[in-house]
Amino acid sequence: MMARLSLLRVGSRQSYKKFIGCKDCSKRAFSCKAVVLPRFGSPDVLQIRSNETLPDLGSTEVLVATKAAAVNPLDARIREGYGRSLFEPLLPLILGRDVSGEVVAVGNSVKLLHVGQEVFGALHPTAVRGTYSDYAILQEDQLILKPTSLTHMEAAAIPFAALTAWRALKGTAQIKQSQRVLILGGGGAVGLSAIQLAKAAGCHVTCTCGKRSMDRAAEAGAELTIDYTSENLRDKLGGRFDAVLDTIGVQETEALGVSSLKRGGHYMTLQGEAVNYADRLGLVAGGAAAAAALVKKQVQYKQAYGIEYMWTIMRTDAEALQDIGLLVRNGQLKVPVGNTFSLWKAADAHHCLEKKQSHGKIILYLD
Ligand SMILES: NC(=O)c1ccc[n+]([C@@H]2O[C@H](COP(=O)([O-])OP(=O)(O)OC[C@H]3O[C@@H](n4cnc5c(N)ncnc54)[C@H](OP(=O)(O)O)[C@@H]3O)[C@@H](O)[C@H]2O)c1
Repeated sequence: MMARLSLLRVGSRQSYKKFIGCKDCSKRAFSCKAVVLPRFGSPDVLQIRSNETLPDLGSTEVLVATKAAAVNPLDARIREGYGRSLFEPLLPLILGRDVSGEVVAVGNSVKLLHVGQEVFGALHPTAVRGTYSDYAILQEDQLILKPTSLTHMEAAAIPFAALTAWRALKGTAQIKQSQRVLILGGGGAVGLSAIQLAKAAGCHVTCTCGKRSMDRAAEAGAELTIDYTSENLRDKLGGRFDAVLDTIGVQETEALGVSSLKRGGHYMTLQGEAVNYADRLGLVAGGAAAAAALVKKQVQYKQAYGIEYMWTIMRTDAEALQDIGLLVRNGQLKVPVGNTFSLWKAADAHHCLEKKQSHGKIILYLD
């Protein structure tokens, strides 16, 4: 609380002034404490910096005092250099996509959120200023109210994973009641979110997962859970599916997924090639090459199996977030929290992710 008040007293912008009654804000800049990525590398490159400048708060933006942020596999990949074609010129970055915390200031055009409310949400995958910071800035429509039934750590575990699953199942496949949905990799955060979204939509859900995740996947709503190390996976799936979400996206899972669909069904992988092409060839040439590679696969699979093939990329989406918020409030969607770390131990959290030590979302918290 003290940290928050002292920050607010040294505000520099109109939108902050409005909420803090600051009379001499223009002379001093806001600063915050953040975990910063100065260059690509191992978890040990992450640095804690105390005097990071907070950028101007845009008219539709909200300043959130972070209580918890999640560690996504994407954070570790960006830290290692994935997306360097985009991110390298923008270093240093602040990693982190999910946040749960308290609204401390809002832009002039923000309509629904108010100072003092507890919110959670997620930034877009390409955001440069992430949530590994004591203050995060998000668009109003990237946030929703946090139900009181959830802790900040439980809330921070949800949005990025659930929005990814929503994009695939609701956005692309437009799943409907009674359809059959297969989740390849149902034991992770996106997989468990996908199971619950499909279940809530009235679908029959089958998933593959590790032995340790079987109970979680079943509790999330999968009627059939199959150990991905077992033999003859194809035979165990029991019939064809309307939609397959492949969270693993390797050759074997892709082959299994596309051959398990009904004609007209949707195969969606989380391991699209767009970023890899851009990193190899540059943003423009890579973008064109990725588009060509995607279309080639789409045509091939359409001809061979009569199915729709798509790379799923997480997108912040106000409608999706509202939908997810409703399910969370109704107790129909949650993501298990695994290991937790102080935000200032983010490097340890990244080591934990890389060693696959956490069964559940790794969460960074601020007291
Ligand atoms: N394209 C996008 O926009 C986007 C967005 C979010 C995530 N992703 C990517 O999607 C993947 C999943 O993300 P996440 O947040 O769900 O990660 P996560 O929570 O770390 O889950 C990964 C899970 O994969 C499971 N797994 C590993 N190999 C498997 C296999 N051969 N078959 C079935 N399950 C397997 C493990 O499950 P068990 O515990 O059951 O062994 C593990 O829990 C990551 O690679 C991430 O980078 C992409």
